[in-house]
Amino acid sequence: MTVCEYIPGLENIPAARSSISYVDGKQGILEYRGIPIEELAQKSTSLETAYLLIWGRLPSKEELATFEADIYNHRRIKYRIRDMMKCFPETGHPMDALQTSAAALGLFYARRTLNDPAYIWDAVVRLMAKIPTMVAAFKLMRKGNDPIQPRDDLDYATNFLYMLTEQVPDPIAARIFDVCLILHAEHTINASTFSAMVTSSTLTDPYAVVASAVGTLAGPLHGGANEEVIEMLNEIGSIENVRAYVEDCVTNKKKIMGFGHRVYKVKDPRATILQTLAERLFDQRGRDRIYDIAVELEKVIEEKLGHKGIYANVDFYSGLVYRKLGIPTDLFTPIFAIARVAGWLAHWREQINENRIFRPTQIYQGEHGIPYVALGDRVHRDPLVSVADDR
Ligand code: SDX
Repeated sequence: MTVCEYIPGLENIPAARSSISYVDGKQGILEYRGIPIEELAQKSTSLETAYLLIWGRLPSKEELATFEADIYNHRRIKYRIRDMMKCFPETGHPMDALQTSAAALGLFYARRTLNDPAYIWDAVVRLMAKIPTMVAAFKLMRKGNDPIQPRDDLDYATNFLYMLTEQVPDPIAARIFDVCLILHAEHTINASTFSAMVTSSTLTDPYAVVASAVGTLAGPLHGGANEEVIEMLNEIGSIENVRAYVEDCVTNKKKIMGFGHRVYKVKDPRATILQTLAERLFDQRGRDRIYDIAVELEKVIEEKLGHKGIYANVDFYSGLVYRKLGIPTDLFTPIFAIARVAGWLAHWREQINENRIFRPTQIYQGEHGIPYVALGDRVHRDPLVSVADDR
């Protein structure tokens, strides 16, 4: 077996054959099961899109009604999981709380009957249904409050916003939030989906698969960027400071959050849609100074880095929408996770249906034939110094 050349980050290396979504990074195209994201954002709902991604086609009216009803009936979480969440430190990040509670679901449901369609359906329903409840529950419990029980009469997006605030959101806010879930649902083999696929390939349970993906999404180079964007815009503070900020980042090769993408070398089509959603919200609820800073920042970065294919990505405007909906900044990435559960589960099903465990190779660059030195004969080195040397 010949060993291929090592490509850092597996850039442009196919790791699967898939029919779930398609991205053209030069044209700025994103399709879910062949349907353009712009059409789904305009005409679909988050659960209909999740059904499309996971089961491979748009559901009939009856199929969608059954999928929605099953999810609405499974939104509550076990009191043992709630009691476990009460022990989480209030300063813990909601993504760590989500990863822990998602993995805990696996303790309550039969494991690994992956050849049983009923098990697959139940696991999809439970994860789609319970992840939003766990995100909302931690937001309240970390302050010492009881979580708000889901309401079976509210749709997916409306119920999540209700569980955050105990206020039923206005229809415009609920629809905008639902579109955000559509936009974040799937994006071919990104880092967290790749984690999900590697974990799926060992045939473990889907709760462990989602927990693995949540941990990966949390990083600032991936889903964690949306939270960092708001902090960056607040740090910039005014339109007048934007140019100097960008010039400093370029000079010091600092990554600017919400920009750049491994695949898109033009503006992420999701960023374009999210920007229109932000503007609709500002029309309804008043414009923020922070948005004007964002628009100026995008303009200056296009001028300074557009030639390198660095444009706004999905994380740049999403936070401005969530912030206007009154969602706390540290819940932005958990919301990304709520949406992406659909994509992770679609790739989980695709992986186990044509599985081969992931086991890549390496190019060894260490030494051989090193003698074992007895403990008493070893030279002492200051651990901090030696760790720095060994990097
Ligand atoms: C998501 O993969 C997906 O599909 C992910 C995602 C999804 O839906 O799942 O789309 C969601 O994760 C969006 C990305 C969110 N992350 C950020 O906004 C963090 C900031 N972005 C960067 O860290 C970066 O752009 C990445 C990680 C997103 C992509 O990095 P790559 O492809 O590894 O690019 P690179 O680091 O090799 O950079 C290439 C060049 C470098 O300059 P040179 O060394 O060639 O001179 O572009 C520069 C980089 O310095 N560059 C940036 C930059 N991103 C890349 N310079 C300034 N600011 C940036 N944001």
